Amino acid sequence: IQHEAWAPFAEGQNDIFNHPTLKAIAEQHDKGVGAVILRWLNQRNIVVIPKSVHKERMIENFNILDFTLSKEEIDAIALLETGKSPIYDDMDLLTVKGIGLHKIHE
Ligand SMILES: NC(=O)c1ccc[n+]([C@@H]2O[C@H](COP(=O)([O-])OP(=O)(O)OC[C@H]3O[C@@H](n4cnc5c(N)ncnc54)[C@H](OP(=O)(O)O)[C@@H]3O)[C@@H](O)[C@H]2O)c1
Repeated sequence: IQHEAWAPFAEGQNDIFNHPTLKAIAEQHDKGVGAVILRWLNQRNIVVIPKSVHKERMIENFNILDFTLSKEEIDAIALLETGKSPIYDDMDLLTVKGIGLHKIHE
């Protein structure tokens, strides 16, 4: 099974781009928070599917292979886990059923 992040920035929710832990790690590597998030996923072998309408952010999001997060940094970011998706509750039976029945087209 290949895990994929279809909203690697949590759609920008939870003020993720201003999180102090992520900002501190980004400064350490002279990178943006977006790059740190994507590299964190990438170093854990998770495919990333980020979206941006800004050229400079797209460039940032592509350039994630020229730095490496340390084990301490990876662990610090893992601690930010809230245990709850900000997008939908995938532990809720009705929500999961609804997604399963959703039709993109007839
Ligand atoms: N979310 C889902 O459940 C879901 C489901 C199916 C398909 N998808 C697809 O997966 C892709 C990603 O999903 P998503 O757009 O929902 O979530 P996302 O990639 O987690 O978040 C996108 C948000 O992050 C901002 N952003 C991107 N790069 C940034 C950077 N380097 N610095 C600061 N802000 C940055 C974007 O703003 P700007 O655009 O203004 O730069 C946008 O507000 C999309 O193509 C989407 O269609 C998502």
